[in-house]
Amino acid sequence: MSAFTYDTNGDMLAEGVALRTIAQQVGTPFYCYSAAALRAGWQEFADGMRGMNASVCYALKANSNLAVIKLFGDLGAGADIVSVGEMRRALAAGIPGRKIIYSGVGKKPSELMAALQAGIGQINVESSAELETLNAVAGQLGVKADITIRVNPDIDAGTHEKITTGRKENKFGIDIDLARDAFALAGRLPNLKVVGVAMHIGSQLTTLDPYRAAIARVRELIVQLRADGHRIGRFDIGGGLGIVYADETPPSIADFLQVVRRETDGLGCELTFEPGRRLVGEAGVLVGEVILVKPGVSKTFVVVDAAMNDLIRPTLYDAWHDIVPVRQPRPNAATIRCDIVGPICESGDYLAQNRDLPALSAGDLVMIRSAGAYGAVMASSYNSRPLAPEVMVDGTRFAVVRPRPTIDEMLSSERFPPWMEKA
Ligand code: LLP
Repeated sequence: MSAFTYDTNGDMLAEGVALRTIAQQVGTPFYCYSAAALRAGWQEFADGMRGMNASVCYALKANSNLAVIKLFGDLGAGADIVSVGEMRRALAAGIPGRKIIYSGVGKKPSELMAALQAGIGQINVESSAELETLNAVAGQLGVKADITIRVNPDIDAGTHEKITTGRKENKFGIDIDLARDAFALAGRLPNLKVVGVAMHIGSQLTTLDPYRAAIARVRELIVQLRADGHRIGRFDIGGGLGIVYADETPPSIADFLQVVRRETDGLGCELTFEPGRRLVGEAGVLVGEVILVKPGVSKTFVVVDAAMNDLIRPTLYDAWHDIVPVRQPRPNAATIRCDIVGPICESGDYLAQNRDLPALSAGDLVMIRSAGAYGAVMASSYNSRPLAPEVMVDGTRFAVVRPRPTIDEMLSSERFPPWMEKA
């Protein structure tokens, strides 16, 4: 059940708190996360993994608010990171270095050095060049780096072209046909210890077949690698499990884990999962206020104070996010066809197009669903709009977990070059 439902008075609640109350105290737009929903997603993984030699490293890129990371960390999660910034967040939220996996196609020597100094548990290497660099950096530090090699199993995950990663033509991982050479190289490099194989085939997957096919391919590779003399003890399956935005029917976490269990049976590998979106997506919403309504000839524009800088997914991926009024419409209320747009000076600044929504007017609040993943983290301050604050609700409590910066704070990091300063 969603954590965001109308109460009997028709007010949209986040768990036990009215979004209207938060809006009054925090202002709009704001992101709101339900702690109960975050915990529920985690619990599904925990239940499904019972009896499996497996662990979850939450993919911070989906939502890296410290409070969100800490919630998962306190429940036992590790972290999947892609930058030193994310590493610092994971550590600051209390996740120990040994439970952190460092992924990414282009890690700089300075970043690899920082990761090794922090005792990061596993580095997922994506190219031969990175193997050499990491070996050199580990040598400088006098340590041995635990690595997996991420292979690209050339499987079409059937997702949006900008978020698919498991095809040959994508930049990610080492082509599965070239993987044995890469493992051979890793085996020769003295400061690397190969511990396993990694994959990640894409994001927002709504069927399990691509996982089945990819795991089967990697499984064959693992058998070959072992015959080549490598000790492959870990299999990192990546993330990618989809959520509901519109009418998708993504598999349950239990079904996903069941498939993985079956496909990896007898392989004797410790498994790692790197879910991001599935743990946070539906647990978060974006709330905005209607600034004005502008009737046009073909459709009506509802201009709200949340914009593409707050949530870029509709503009960037043609993503569909459900939008509902925070005040429940009367049953059978008439609808009008409208675009929900932000105030930014770009035609691409919309949150939804051609939606049939009950009549809205200035001052009404709207809630954009499934915005907990790749929402706040992808926000910018374009048009000098302050980043929307983030709020966490837990039962009847709520707290601002990232405040809205003031304009003064935004300006304070910039400066005039000395030659422009007055004498
Ligand atoms: N592991 C790796 C190596 C990844 O590249 C990703 C996501 C994940 C795990 C987590 O995937 P998830 O479980 O969240 O699907 N901004 C896009 C999504 C980009 C995903 C990139 N990689 C969006 O808004 O749809």
